[in-house]
Amino acid sequence: MHIASLLVPAIALASLASGQYVVPAADGSDGWADALGKAKALVAQMTQEEKLNITQQNNDFPRVGEIDRLGYTGLFYADGAEGIRGASYSSAFPQALNGAATWDRNLLYRRAVAIGQEARAKGINVQFGPGVNLMRTPNAGRGFEYNGADPYLAGQAGAQHVQGVQSQGVMSTVRHYIGNDQETGRRWTSSNMGDRTAHELYLWPFQDAVKAGVASTMCSYNGLNGTYSCADPMSLGKWLHEELKFQGWVLSDFGAITFGEEIDAANAGVDTTRVADPPSAPFPFGPGSALSAAVANNSVSQDRLDDMVHRIVSAWYKLGQDQDYPAYNTSVNSLSKEHNELIREIGAKSIVLLKNSNSVDLLGAPFGGGAGAGPGGFGPDSDQGNFLGGSGSSYVIPPYQVTLLDALNQQAREQNTQVFAYLDNFNHTVQASQASTGNLAWATCLVDVRQTCGEGYDRANLTASWGGDQTILSVASQCANTVVIYSACGPFNTTTWGDHPNVTAILNAGGLGQEAGNSLVDVLYGVVNPSARLPYTLAQDISDYPALPDLTIETLNTSFVDIDYNEGLFIDYRWFDKNDIAPAFEFGFAGLSYTTYKYSNLSVQPSTATLQKTVAASSDEVFDCLAIITVDITNSGQIGGSEIPQLYIGSPADGAPIKVLRGFDTVGLDAGAKKTVEFQLTRRDLSFWDTYNEGWTLPEGDHQVYIGASSRDIRETGKMKFTLA
Ligand SMILES: *[C@@H]1O[C@H](CO)[C@@H](O)[C@H](O)[C@H]1NC(C)=O
Ligand SMILES: *[C@@H]1O[C@H](CO)[C@@H](O)[C@H](O)[C@H]1NC(C)=O
Ligand SMILES: *[C@@H]1O[C@H](CO)[C@@H](O)[C@H](O)[C@H]1NC(C)=O
Ligand SMILES: *[C@@H]1O[C@H](CO)[C@@H](O)[C@H](O)[C@H]1NC(C)=O
Ligand SMILES: *[C@@H]1O[C@H](CO)[C@@H](O)[C@H](O)[C@H]1NC(C)=O
Ligand SMILES: *[C@@H]1O[C@H](CO)[C@@H](O)[C@H](O)[C@H]1NC(C)=O
Ligand SMILES: *[C@@H]1O[C@H](CO)[C@@H](O)[C@H](O)[C@H]1NC(C)=O
Ligand SMILES: *[C@@H]1O[C@H](CO)[C@@H](O)[C@H](O)[C@H]1NC(C)=O
Ligand SMILES: *[C@@H]1O[C@H](CO)[C@@H](O)[C@H](O)[C@H]1NC(C)=O
Ligand SMILES: *[C@@H]1O[C@H](CO)[C@@H](O)[C@H](O)[C@H]1NC(C)=O
Repeated sequence: MHIASLLVPAIALASLASGQYVVPAADGSDGWADALGKAKALVAQMTQEEKLNITQQNNDFPRVGEIDRLGYTGLFYADGAEGIRGASYSSAFPQALNGAATWDRNLLYRRAVAIGQEARAKGINVQFGPGVNLMRTPNAGRGFEYNGADPYLAGQAGAQHVQGVQSQGVMSTVRHYIGNDQETGRRWTSSNMGDRTAHELYLWPFQDAVKAGVASTMCSYNGLNGTYSCADPMSLGKWLHEELKFQGWVLSDFGAITFGEEIDAANAGVDTTRVADPPSAPFPFGPGSALSAAVANNSVSQDRLDDMVHRIVSAWYKLGQDQDYPAYNTSVNSLSKEHNELIREIGAKSIVLLKNSNSVDLLGAPFGGGAGAGPGGFGPDSDQGNFLGGSGSSYVIPPYQVTLLDALNQQAREQNTQVFAYLDNFNHTVQASQASTGNLAWATCLVDVRQTCGEGYDRANLTASWGGDQTILSVASQCANTVVIYSACGPFNTTTWGDHPNVTAILNAGGLGQEAGNSLVDVLYGVVNPSARLPYTLAQDISDYPALPDLTIETLNTSFVDIDYNEGLFIDYRWFDKNDIAPAFEFGFAGLSYTTYKYSNLSVQPSTATLQKTVAASSDEVFDCLAIITVDITNSGQIGGSEIPQLYIGSPADGAPIKVLRGFDTVGLDAGAKKTVEFQLTRRDLSFWDTYNEGWTLPEGDHQVYIGASSRDIRETGKMKFTLA
């Protein structure tokens, strides 16, 4: 009953009657052979009950499927995109979106290594992350858990995350597969997208995670083209398992399989489930479940059940968890000074300085509750304390918080400066009068505002919470040097205050984690030269974005509500480019560094071989290098810093965006220094997804090459073409 992937068009596959499709078994490719062999030997000794036990997590048993007599320890899971959720003594890292804003593979890797170390110390086998859904809409509720609006950036960030966490022997879980791009109605919406859009955008970063060796994938609550993601033979079977040759295991999002989809889910490729909290029997998988009955009457084959267990146990071997894995204990203290320092560094290097008319180096009066800790207390949705990221399942209770006020006070103590704080968010009259007291020649007024956000809802608009916009205006009306520090889960609205002459600087801070104050002070005092880049577009008008979530879908019903991805390939900057819309701040925006960089000497070297036009999705040739681009970057200013050159390609393929991101690098340069940066372009980078031939096809004609400091600050251009067979 297994369907050969390249012969059946995607649409036909999706319409197969339920139960007919059976996902291919793991075959040990991509370096999994040894682990798979060991897993098969162990699973051969398991009883049917033991096998079924491995396919579920019942909350009564936080460990999944241990078998003492065989030495199989089972798996403990931990949630949390920003650290280890629900455990004591865990670090609160900057939100994932801040990681993406660094555009720095090394920092992304080190963030993940640190999270992996904390998971391992607590005996956690599986850490949920990275999230690589794209910011299709600016208000997407979980945007802060993901890596921005571009598939290349999200894929690179996701791959670093997987490699970092798994370097510690901890399994990563890439999620939420696939099309879970809005929170409103996430259990009963169907994300409807074309095959090309799926491959070139939403599937792309998952492919990078699989290539990086990710141990598991979490399928999502929503539907895709009218089939639940967790029971979809097309996205799970054909794309993930056949095209990407995924060897790990698939976990359904919590409670995602509750709709009589158990058999389809198992046959499409879900290997294990976690029940909703609180759990309620009957469970979809596990002993005594619908799955167990389905195996008994062969509507799920014994081979499929065995494959489910092989995949899970082989990942356990592949990550070395069969050897001396620490005992599970979430109370173990996994904090460390190194992690605190790293959090501070990532924080500082993720702050995008959107505006800087004066040089910011002396501080006076901070305003706004976010600066310190007022009587309201801390929490994910509080107006007090650090903005740690959004609320929901990724939230990590911080071990401590260095607030902006804490860090400013410390700085004042060391540098003989003066700090005055007014922490009330609500009385704009008093804010204004207090601001005038900071209105001395030497003073700066810092306004710390935020927009809260979180899992389970999308932002209705991009306006600050707690009257933050009015706070900025009140302070700016009286203080000639007003610096805005803005924390949010993504784009925010600068319309009413962004161009105010007294707003001299804007720091886009995102969610900085437990060291927020120190990270901010490092940028404000010039200890860190800002180098972050916007991982999304900040629009002037909300209607400039190609898509917004439908917030009217409020009632649960079992039929799908359609979310049509009518913008296709044109999300974020691709849409602004196509329609020639001027953003407030563009994707990749370089922020304002304290130095300047010069680009020169672009060299474009395409492969001179005669190339096959199309390669199959599952071919290793998808990642062959077909072109090398180099450019020289010189620090032409007075102080050292990091530049992040970005490579965009304009494809001659029909319907292609004007340009798409296909490379970036972090280049540290002392004042006056020069370095040559090299980018390698793969076949996938240069191809379009060819729905008809079901593969990656190189287009005829000139590929435009753009290198710049942002998607709209292109410094060098070139072009190249290939000889096709
Ligand atoms: C199923 O797994 C749980 C948790 O690991 C364990 O306590 C239980 O004994 C297992 N049952 C069987 C039949 O192995
Ligand atoms: C989803 O359905 C639409 C409309 O039938 C179709 O055009 C599109 O190709 C489908 N998507 C995929 C990924 O097959
Ligand atoms: C097999 O068992 C499952 C689970 O009880 C049931 O849903 C399905 O209808 C059965 N199939 C057949 C052919 O009896
Ligand atoms: C878990 O770790 C804590 C902190 O180290 C310790 O006090 C406790 O005894 C440990 N629990 C077990 C069961 O080992
Ligand atoms: C703001 O504070 C002032 C001074 O305490 C007070 O007179 C005024 O009523 C307050 N306004 C509001 C809206 O609370
Ligand atoms: C933005 O949305 C919030 C939450 O729904 C609402 O309270 C607020 O009034 C809205 N602001 C604007 C300017 O529409
Ligand atoms: C800017 O601040 C000064 C106080 O230094 C104030 O007099 C002026 O009105 C402010 N400008 C605006 C446009 O509010
Ligand atoms: C910002 O708010 C203004 C006023 O409500 C609105 O017209 C504009 O579309 C908003 N822009 C964004 C990007 O949300
Ligand atoms: C689902 O709920 C929405 C909102 O109440 C309603 O408009 C729609 O008709 C419902 N659909 C079905 C199939 O019940
Ligand atoms: C330009 O780059 C080429 C290599 O692509 C190098 O050989 C040459 O020296 C460079 N020219 C300058 C002026 O740096």
